[in-house]
Amino acid sequence: MTTTPEAMTSHPLHTGVTADAPLITEYLGGKTFTGEAVRPARRPVWFMRQAGRSLPEYRALREGTTMLEACLKPDMVAEITLQPVRRHDVDAAIFFSDIVVPLRLAGVDVEIEPGVGPVLKNPVRSAADVAALPDLDLKDFEVISEAAAQCVSLLGPRPLIGFAGAPFTLAAYMVEGRPSRDHLGPRTMMHADPQTWHALAEWTARASGLFMRAQVLAGASAVQLFDSWAGSLGRADYAERVMQHSAAAFAEVADLGVPAVHFGTGTGEILDLMQRAGADVIGVDYRLDLAEVATRLPGTPLQGNIDPALLTAPWEVLEAHVHTVIEAGSRAPGHVVNLGHGVPPETDPDVLTRVVELVHSQPVN
Ligand code: CP3
Repeated sequence: MTTTPEAMTSHPLHTGVTADAPLITEYLGGKTFTGEAVRPARRPVWFMRQAGRSLPEYRALREGTTMLEACLKPDMVAEITLQPVRRHDVDAAIFFSDIVVPLRLAGVDVEIEPGVGPVLKNPVRSAADVAALPDLDLKDFEVISEAAAQCVSLLGPRPLIGFAGAPFTLAAYMVEGRPSRDHLGPRTMMHADPQTWHALAEWTARASGLFMRAQVLAGASAVQLFDSWAGSLGRADYAERVMQHSAAAFAEVADLGVPAVHFGTGTGEILDLMQRAGADVIGVDYRLDLAEVATRLPGTPLQGNIDPALLTAPWEVLEAHVHTVIEAGSRAPGHVVNLGHGVPPETDPDVLTRVVELVHSQPVN
């Protein structure tokens, strides 16, 4: 680890503060960060999109501040990141931000419209558009470092998970200019103008990689790459035109040595490739059978995959489902309980707290 930057010597994984946290030991397949075999003190659980609209305290704090303004205020980011930890006692915090924040920090004109999602003033569709994208530098991410460092000092032994959007998902927003269902624009571009596609994906890979790097250098103990739209790609397109760019995003943090999770939705056909892109852990969406994924990816720690739709089902139905997920996850060398996609905004937060209590009440393997 001679290449590990100086900043990592005070990182919570290296000082030992988070080295044997249940989240980390499951991500590492039953080992602490220093390599000793352990059983976690309890079965770890967190929820994608746990910070956000399902919490009244989040809605109250965000009143009068746009989403992207909130993401650029370190105090607010730290408070929102901590809210679900205090309320639900989850085993990790996920950094409160958004996948398009690196675009904004790089100088791209992007907004997050409520009820819509990310919208770009000038979609990126030609070679000239890509060539005009701003240069990227870790220095552009200082506000992220400051916010992440605040989160880390408040969290103590509970790990902070840093994240980024994967190059394809981020590029899909940039080409379409707004959310879309089938992502025709980027899928056309990768065949019709492969050179422009690869130049754009290289840019998004670096934006996402630096965004994760800023969070890890500030103390995040794990990272997760969200490729929410990768499920719209055929296997050949993913293998030949996308995977290398996700690998490049992971490579920006590889020297820092933190566990890396790769998550996408509708990705049953490409899970093995997503793992090969550089992930230690695969995030499994709710459409897949977790037990079957454990068989298909032997030796791989898994995360997931409670169906978010069941959060509004009667408790007995949800409870039985959580037991099924725990039982399936026990076939993998490590398992972190999570949802199979984000918390829906209308979720009753008390249900999430109850799921955490249920998961923690179950014996660890
Ligand atoms: O708790 C957490 O998970 C941490 C924060 C987080 C947000 N977005 C906050 C957010 C994370 C990890 C994301 C990732 C993200 N953002 C993804 C990948 C994960 C996924 O859900 O598939 C994607 C595709 C985006 C893009 C995006 N940002 C969308 C589609 C939306 C929803 C728009 C809407 O209003 O319906 C956003 C906005 C957003 N990001 C909100 C939050 C809390 C809601 C904005 C608000 O509260 O006003």
